[in-house]
Parts: sequence; structure tokens; C-alpha cells
Amino acid sequence: MSQSQLQWQERYAIGIPAVDHEHQELIRMINDLVMRILEGTDVAFVSDSLGDILSAIGAHFALEEKIMRDRHYDQYFDHKSDHDRLLDQLRDIMDDYAVHRQISPAELVQTLDAWFSEHFRTRDARLHSLKNQSGRPTG
Ligand SMILES: [Fe+2]
Ligand SMILES: [Fe+2]
Repeated sequence: MSQSQLQWQERYAIGIPAVDHEHQELIRMINDLVMRILEGTDVAFVSDSLGDILSAIGAHFALEEKIMRDRHYDQYFDHKSDHDRLLDQLRDIMDDYAVHRQISPAELVQTLDAWFSEHFRTRDARLHSLKNQSGRPTG
């Protein structure tokens, strides 16, 4: 079964407002682009949007990584390597689009949805444990 949009789920909420807000914003940006592709937008718009999405995701990861470093998070490296993997995947999608000028919205949604729901569930959800910490090492 295919779906044409990413969907925010209540269970994605991790309880750190800045992170939750950015997750919703990223989903919105991706859905906007998918909608525009389906409506038949031009190449420049798709390239620009993919670039905007890549930088927004990069900034979002930087925020999470800062939170993790500030709080001496025990799974920092595993979480960060998952981020790096998604950034590589997105760069591949962009490079491919630059060459072929064709993009399948269904495939884009499927790739990102699989990645997001898996990463939210296995990595970001665990950041919940950091939400009440001051950031100062204890003891
Ligand atoms: Fe993350
Ligand atoms: Fe995240």
C-alpha cells in the first residue's frame, strides 16, 4: 500500500518541545514538496526544496546532537551515525535528481517515512530520558 504524505503521529512526541516542533516542521516541508511534485512543479523548485529540506534536517540533527553532547548522552555515537546515514541518503536523492531530473514522490515518501518512523521510534524516543536533566554532570 502506498501513501502520498508523511503523517505525524502522537507517539512520535518525545517531550522536548524544540525537537518535537522541528519534527513536525520537517514532515510539513516534505509533504509540501510532495504536493508540489504531484501538481507538476518545475525542476528549480524541486531542487531548491530538496536543498531547503536537507539544510533543515541538518540543522535539526545539529540541535539533537548538541542536546546529547551537553548532557553526556550514552548513545551519542550510535544516534549520530544514524543521522549521518540519512543525510547521505538525502544527498544521493538530490544528486540523482540533479542528473535525471525525475523524482518519484511515492518513493520519496516511502524512503523518508520508513526512515523517520524507525529513527523516531528507536533513537529520538530515547531522548525523552534527557528532558528533565539540567545538562550539568552530576556527581
Ligand atoms: Fe535523531
Ligand atoms: Fe529528530
